Amino acid sequence: MSQDRVIIFDTTLRDGEQSPGASMTREEKLRIAKALEKLRVDVIEAGFAIASPGDFEAVKSIADTIQDSTICSLARAVDADIDRAAEALANANSGRIHTFIATSPIHMEHKLRLQPDQVIEQAVRAIKRARNLCADVEFSCEDGGRSEIDFLCRIIEQAIDAGARTINIPDTVGYAIPHQFAETIRQVIERVPNADKAIFSVHCHNDLGLAVANSLAAVTAGARQVECTINGLGERAGNASLEEIVMAIKTRQDVLGVHTGIVTEHILSTSRLVSSITGFPVQPNKAIVGANAFAHESGIHQDGVLKHRETYEIMSAQSVGWHANKLSLGKLSGRNAFRTRLQELGIELSDQDELNAAFVRFKELADKKHEIFDEDLQALVSDTVTDMVERMRLVFLDVRSRTGETPMATLTVEIGGVEQQATASGSGPVDAAFRALEQIASSGANLQLYSVNAITEGTDSQGEVTVRLEKGGRIVNGNGADTDIVIASAKAYINALNLMHSGALKAHPQVEGI
Ligand code: KIV
Ligand code: ZN
Repeated sequence: MSQDRVIIFDTTLRDGEQSPGASMTREEKLRIAKALEKLRVDVIEAGFAIASPGDFEAVKSIADTIQDSTICSLARAVDADIDRAAEALANANSGRIHTFIATSPIHMEHKLRLQPDQVIEQAVRAIKRARNLCADVEFSCEDGGRSEIDFLCRIIEQAIDAGARTINIPDTVGYAIPHQFAETIRQVIERVPNADKAIFSVHCHNDLGLAVANSLAAVTAGARQVECTINGLGERAGNASLEEIVMAIKTRQDVLGVHTGIVTEHILSTSRLVSSITGFPVQPNKAIVGANAFAHESGIHQDGVLKHRETYEIMSAQSVGWHANKLSLGKLSGRNAFRTRLQELGIELSDQDELNAAFVRFKELADKKHEIFDEDLQALVSDTVTDMVERMRLVFLDVRSRTGETPMATLTVEIGGVEQQATASGSGPVDAAFRALEQIASSGANLQLYSVNAITEGTDSQGEVTVRLEKGGRIVNGNGADTDIVIASAKAYINALNLMHSGALKAHPQVEGI
């Protein structure tokens, strides 16, 4: 690989999934992995295989399917994690085990309760074990941003000797400042005697809003892999956002002097897919993928752009996929055209029943909505296809809402083949529908978030609703889409209840001790 090429390592499916409420099903992860492959991401961190059976299955099915990107699983520096990661990656065309241990004084003393020499010993042992199972091994110094430079150099030298080919220095707690972080990376690369045998990587969290700046500063200091996520999803304030890293590298090649292999035209569709699956909306003023990122409001700016685009635009909207919003299908489109378009979008339905169910929903939607766009199809499939057993299903919903009268909702749901009905009033039709659902479900969960987003433009757009429920510290996000936002809301609430009922808790890579 050329010295000027920056490897893009996407961790949306692992660190991104650690955002409270962002957990995804195996099928959803596979759809995102296919979009990342199409984007030409070099390495996809598909999950943390030992965390749960669901995570293992997700890593495995991504490793079994994806051909063009390297598939990686996270593993703590312990035998069981490494063996499980290797098992999940067994069929990968190109697989990587990513093992880590904390290296900062505060983590070693209070979390690991290990002496620095014991940490080195454990890291070396883990890397050797991983190398026996997989040719491509990455080692991360967790909390690298707060680690002592002498210790970093010591452990990294031994990690490379043990067989790690990528050395990642994460700013786990988002504490670094760009020039200082760049200096750390520069010194490590200079001082580690066998540094030329590894690629140096960074993984920055955004607690101070500096994740992208820190990552780019590290690139100027010699890092040649950046770990990032779509829409900056991730633990707490998130990770460095892939779209911002990639477009900064592309737009400021004059200063940074490096490039990536990303097909930037697929950035927007991937961002929308991740937002629709996780239910995390993208803020309008978000760089690159926010709705206003290329909208010029002031007259002076509009005039300038019309005369010469570069007066106010540093990159073209088309280069990241804006205005590629393709009219996909219409009312008269047949089943074959429908299936073909889904395949082009990277969506493969597992059997004829799923295709039939999705096609029925497509026809219903086409009756209500004249033009069906790719985003509509993504939402429709998210809404129809699930590898989770649906415990509760909406059968019927009637809402009454008039000026001066209390809104009422009557609904019927099916639970385990038995229909149940409830009626409730509320401060609005959505509130009434949620109260009716709670009469039946008695979940005792707290509603933490309710959000509605229009999937496409126009008043006939489908509304995509996210409902976040919390119970006993466990958070789930339910999604629902429909041209009727009350129906979309009821579906999202039911989806959240189903998730709450089905899901198993996962181990958390940073919190769990070793
Ligand atoms: O933030 C972090 O340190 C991580 C590591 C596991 C790479 O996510
Ligand atoms: Zn992280």
